[in-house]
Amino acid sequence: MRQTLQVFLVLFSTFAIINCLNNGLALTPAMGWNSWNHFHCDINEDLIKQTADAIVSSGLADAGYKYVNLDDCWQISRDSEGYIQEDKAKFPSGIKALADYVHSKGLKFGLYSDAGDFTCEHRPGSLGYEVKDAERYAEWGVDYLKYDNCYNNNIPPQVRYPPMRDALNSTGHPIYFSMCEWGEQDPATWAPEVGNSWRTTGDISDNYDSFLSILEQQVGLEKYAHRGAWNDPDMLEVGNGGMTTQEYEAHFALWALLKAPLLIGCDVNNMSPDTFRILSNQEIIAINQDPLGIQGRRVLKTDQYQLWIGTIVDGIAVILFNTSSQDSDLSFTFEQIGITGQAIIRDLYKHQDLGKFSNSFSTNVPTHGVAVLKVVPLSFAY
Ligand SMILES: *[C@@H]1O[C@H](CO)[C@@H](O)[C@H](O)[C@H]1NC(C)=O
Ligand SMILES: *[C@@H]1O[C@H](CO)[C@@H](O)[C@H](O)[C@H]1NC(C)=O
Repeated sequence: MRQTLQVFLVLFSTFAIINCLNNGLALTPAMGWNSWNHFHCDINEDLIKQTADAIVSSGLADAGYKYVNLDDCWQISRDSEGYIQEDKAKFPSGIKALADYVHSKGLKFGLYSDAGDFTCEHRPGSLGYEVKDAERYAEWGVDYLKYDNCYNNNIPPQVRYPPMRDALNSTGHPIYFSMCEWGEQDPATWAPEVGNSWRTTGDISDNYDSFLSILEQQVGLEKYAHRGAWNDPDMLEVGNGGMTTQEYEAHFALWALLKAPLLIGCDVNNMSPDTFRILSNQEIIAINQDPLGIQGRRVLKTDQYQLWIGTIVDGIAVILFNTSSQDSDLSFTFEQIGITGQAIIRDLYKHQDLGKFSNSFSTNVPTHGVAVLKVVPLSFAY
């Protein structure tokens, strides 16, 4: 087994030098919706159509959310030639018709499969069927593929993921490749050659501890992300009900700063005003979609709070994250964010210019909440 593994890895290294993902996609992180976090396996044609309708009518499409992605459970079997079959009980008109519908709304369409014998919900996986599956996806007009990691026979992901990258490439149809190997084999160090994004951890759950633990695991990964290739701390839970509004504000802003793909995971047909307000915040989305594509990083963590910063074209995005319930204000010094002199500061959740400051800035931040600030130095005298 060890020898086989070594051969695999040698083959892969040779491969990686010759081949790299070059599909021209994800110059900024993908934005869209995915069915899993809210609906799990319980999806069907009508739900996806209503979701596409709601993404447009609510204004989320105008805010930048374009991909409508089915997660597990759209597929059921293979035909006698090995081609994947959709579950006709749930998708009677077929995936092609659904993709056409989503496209007719000006949106993009995504599917899910798995680099193993089965998907996590035990539907047919793509291992060994990469070429046939990619062919079908391209015929159907699929724009995005999330590729999971269940039932993988302990074959290293470095061996299982590139064949799908290459199969997608061979179709000639640009398809965003979202790798979901759960961060197990340090994907940030090799996945930028393979996928447009790679999951850095196991699945998120809709609670503050899960969000905080995933956030912690992003520290240090910022150096691997760039235009076309992003760390993926998993899809958004905003609007699913397990966190407070302040916690969802923190989750959304920090994911934006991490340059995470922003994939909404709630029921967009039934969003509260707060959910929509958070997800459609143009000033925070602008941090995520910033053309420089520089992932933000943590510069300070105490028992009370965390300070995160990220360079954007017109300044510095700063997030003060209150992880405690102690009674004191949060602040940062200009030195901590690498600037000197005066700076103009704007609050991106309050949509308010706060004025001109020197040396430091301080504000009250609710428990488990954030202050999201844009800091524009009057002179960039680093
Ligand atoms: C396939 O890969 C080649 C070489 O990297 C690249 O030039 C081309 O744009 C890719 N095509 C698609 C559809 O991804
Ligand atoms: C954190 O949140 C609490 C509760 O809203 C607040 O009283 C406190 O000032 C905030 N700041 C710190 C450092 O805990």
